[in-house]
Amino acid sequence: MTDHMPSPSDAQADLIAYLDFHVEAGADAALDEHPHDRFSEADTPAPTLRAPRRSAPRAAESPVTPVANTLVPPPGSAPPAAAPRTFGRAASAQPDEAASDARARARQAKTLDELERILADFDACPLRFTAKNLVFADGNPEARVMFLGEAPGADEDRIGKPFMGRSGQLLDKMMKAIGLDRTSAYIGNIVPWRPPGNRNPTPQEVAVCRPFVERQIELVDPDIIVCLGAPATQTLTGSKDGILRTRGRLFPYKLPSREVKLLATLHPAFLLRQPVQKRLAWRDFRSLRALLDGKA
Ligand code: URA
Repeated sequence: MTDHMPSPSDAQADLIAYLDFHVEAGADAALDEHPHDRFSEADTPAPTLRAPRRSAPRAAESPVTPVANTLVPPPGSAPPAAAPRTFGRAASAQPDEAASDARARARQAKTLDELERILADFDACPLRFTAKNLVFADGNPEARVMFLGEAPGADEDRIGKPFMGRSGQLLDKMMKAIGLDRTSAYIGNIVPWRPPGNRNPTPQEVAVCRPFVERQIELVDPDIIVCLGAPATQTLTGSKDGILRTRGRLFPYKLPSREVKLLATLHPAFLLRQPVQKRLAWRDFRSLRALLDGKA
């Protein structure tokens, strides 16, 4: 026996190159066993969402009121069996309807555990179907400071916690430099599922996930929210400015019972690419320390 591997035929080499190209382009997850002709599916009218219904919780059940699955096929459309199998409502829900459904569901959560359970069942964001894990949060929910990034990457997706990879290691060092760690800070993302191939989440994906992160902030009730990078900052402040303009700025953020501060700063992944910018992040983290100490 030799360990000589046969060299791939031209056809195999072409196939490998084709797959490599797709992985490079971010199509790095198999979504289903069988191919779908999405062009012909597009001819089928999309089901519409009915306004969510609330039903009274039954004794001995979780206090979380289940929102009925609100898909209603339009009259004369194909039976549900014709719908794509693995994307839940994400395949067909209109973004606005999915976002208002998300809002109704997020509002039901009275605790962070409930919110995580509701999110785990939420099937109107397509990212959940390509991600391995829901990446909800890490750290201390009693903390005064809450850090928010953009979306999990491959390491976070595998482990199920935010900021576990190289960016996370840098974030840990930055926190440590001002006396914080994951026992004294709470960490989340504005999108809790990894976008395939680490692409940026689309505006629709951010909009659908946003009610959940807003509820998560309400339930943590931090004194200071730190947005890491432009997507988190823009999502929570409404500012359209780039992060090099907004970093270091304090924005007011309204919670149900009070107004707290939101500090925008640079994302650790950006700092890994542009280490020279760390001095700006250091300034922001010193402001954060001063805010926590009541000196700003
Ligand atoms: N980048 C983010 O924005 N969030 C993570 O959890 C990891 C990397």
